[in-house]
Amino acid sequence: MSTTLEPEGTYDGVPSFSYDNTAGGPVLSHHRRWDEISAAHSGFRSSTARGFWVVTDGPAIQEALQDWETFSSKSVTALDPDPKFLWIPEMLDPPLHSKWRRLLGREFSPNAVARREPEIRQVAVETIERFAGHGGADVLDEFARRFPTKIFLRLMGLPPEDLDVFLGWVHEILHLSYEQDPDRGRQLAGINAVSAYFGEQIARRREAPTDDLLSRAMTWQIDGEPISDRDLHAFCVLMFQAGLDTVPISVGWSLYHFATHPGQRAAIVADPSLIPVSVEEILRVYSFVIPARKATKDIEIGGCPVKSGEMVMLPLAVSNRDPGRYENPSEVDLTRRTSNHIAFGSGPHRCLGSHLARLELNVAVEEWHRRIPDYRIAAGQELEETGNMYGIKSLRLEW
Ligand code: HEM
Repeated sequence: MSTTLEPEGTYDGVPSFSYDNTAGGPVLSHHRRWDEISAAHSGFRSSTARGFWVVTDGPAIQEALQDWETFSSKSVTALDPDPKFLWIPEMLDPPLHSKWRRLLGREFSPNAVARREPEIRQVAVETIERFAGHGGADVLDEFARRFPTKIFLRLMGLPPEDLDVFLGWVHEILHLSYEQDPDRGRQLAGINAVSAYFGEQIARRREAPTDDLLSRAMTWQIDGEPISDRDLHAFCVLMFQAGLDTVPISVGWSLYHFATHPGQRAAIVADPSLIPVSVEEILRVYSFVIPARKATKDIEIGGCPVKSGEMVMLPLAVSNRDPGRYENPSEVDLTRRTSNHIAFGSGPHRCLGSHLARLELNVAVEEWHRRIPDYRIAAGQELEETGNMYGIKSLRLEW
């Protein structure tokens, strides 16, 4: 990561950094950088690409996420204020956004998710048992990415043999840095490929509907009208984005955390009732989603004089590791009682899949430690994380 703590100058009276959030770096470097910058500044200007604002004041981040009238979701990519693509419901503002959320809410409600638990557990167990006897594995490739992607394919009713092609698209759309993809051409090509794939899936279901989320979405109506093919594509692409990378990243951080904190690992193995708190704490401490919004009017936030049409980045890690909000904010604390973190966001766009994600994470941690209770990080690795959403790139464990 190219940022130094010394600002390179000022922009409208606010410190300016060449902060490139898309760049990868050593493991946890983004989190440490946010801690350092937010201790010194409530906001700054990033000079990357066309430039954007970054709020580094915990309460202000949450307020902005809740104020959708001022901070619109028409663009949610700080580098790209005028995107050539649409993701539904992520890039809609209320009232249209609320109509989609009402329809989607049923599919992702706590009850709907709880009904999937046996299937989710079975997939986790099968995936772990493929390599548990091998004495070691790259756990991102063998488990963290495979397990939730298999669940996603089942949820959407897609063929299990498409797993590897999905994992490739996730990389092109979500993992490339600004340097690797300066004009976002590779990202757009990936999005178009996913959209074409879903176009085919939608066409097949028009011939013969199946019992899955995609087929059900095709029967929904908004304002008395069936959903257009364009909007169905935009929904599928968003489901892909939102559902495919996030749980893998969290499973990766969970295994990294327990590998580097053997005392806490022993504690959850001895008393699995500690697992839900550990999952919440890992989500909080290793928060990796960095929403962005487009200002609809001139507004000052975190000391930044934002102009209408400019992009504002709202890093959740700053709020979740805010020393004003949590004691020892960067520590996973298995006795912590406060569970008000915003790793799933805040306001109207708060994660639709949070119940599913929590269930997958709890099942992953439980079933892993039932079979592989004792493990360590294999020697000789430089542990690196991705930019955009901060996930550990590769992690070889031994047991
Ligand atoms: C640990 C895993 C996950 C984390 C940390 C996470 C986090 C988030 C966050 C922070 C947002 C809000 C983004 C914003 O405000 O711009 C969001 C939105 C969303 N998430 Fe998740 N997510 C996770 C898993 C999932 C899963 C498994 C699904 C579905 C299969 C999902 C579906 C969605 C959808 C559809 C939205 C858009 C909601 C809207 O715009 O109204 N997420 N997620």
